[in-house]
Amino acid sequence: MSVSVETRDVSITFGAGPAAVRVLPGVSFSVSPGECFGLVGESGSGKSTVLRCISMLTDIWTGDILIDGKSVRAMPLIERCRMVQMVFQDPYGSLHPRQSVRTVLNEPLAIHKLGNREERMRKAITDVGLPLSFLDRFPHQLSGGQRQRVAIARALILEPSLLLLDEPTSALDVSVQAEILNLLQRLREERGFTYIMVTHDLAVVDHMCDRFAVMLHGEITEVLPRDAIPANGATHPYARELIGASLEYENAH
Ligand SMILES: Nc1ncnc2c1ncn2[C@@H]1O[C@H](COP(=O)(O)OP(=O)(O)OP(=O)(O)O)[C@@H](O)[C@H]1O
Ligand SMILES: [Mg+2]
Repeated sequence: MSVSVETRDVSITFGAGPAAVRVLPGVSFSVSPGECFGLVGESGSGKSTVLRCISMLTDIWTGDILIDGKSVRAMPLIERCRMVQMVFQDPYGSLHPRQSVRTVLNEPLAIHKLGNREERMRKAITDVGLPLSFLDRFPHQLSGGQRQRVAIARALILEPSLLLLDEPTSALDVSVQAEILNLLQRLREERGFTYIMVTHDLAVVDHMCDRFAVMLHGEITEVLPRDAIPANGATHPYARELIGASLEYENAH
């Protein structure tokens, strides 16, 4: 099932009193069902915060976030977890060192009291291209790419419709990055997932995303189609500069 996502005037303030910092002054964008939507922009511009708001990892934001037309605030926890899952940048930090892959994959199934656990775990591990024997491995017995596959399997096990990907390949070697991006691409084609993907790499946007938003200081400067990259079709100065720098880098390498 594919779902749409809409954020309307989402704003978040961290801290209180004179120390209060308003990080997203009012972010609005829409993502179509089955689309891969990129979020790019400088460090600290609020990309991860947008994903944390959508997934309700933080709930102190104002505005509206609708998934398939339904407010995420109104969704019961179980429905939300089965609808939205997140994959983080650091596959080393996101897996507990003393938990086997089986334990990692079993946890969401146990929390949500789902049946056929062994079957679901086998399917999830196979779906991400790992052999079944990996269910009995621990994180230190996995490569970075394999760990990220496990993190993706954990996200898939509740059969979500929306995946929020926060720089899912930036901690990996270039060749492994390509493998993981191809895996994500294949999963989206097969399952019709909607993706929102944070990346600092416009080559990744070019490879994966249909459209992307360029963020600066918590605001979206511009939403562009992927094919605006090669000829730098951005109109906002910061977006033009970002794309220009990336094209220069590519030409030089
Ligand atoms: N819990 C928090 N408390 C206070 N400030 C926060 C909190 N979370 C994020 N911020 C601030 O919000 C801003 C946006 O952070 P965010 O992590 O969303 O940036 P980002 O675009 O993902 O950056 P990067 O590319 O470095 O990952 C930063 O200035 C950060 O310091
Ligand atoms: Mg971030």
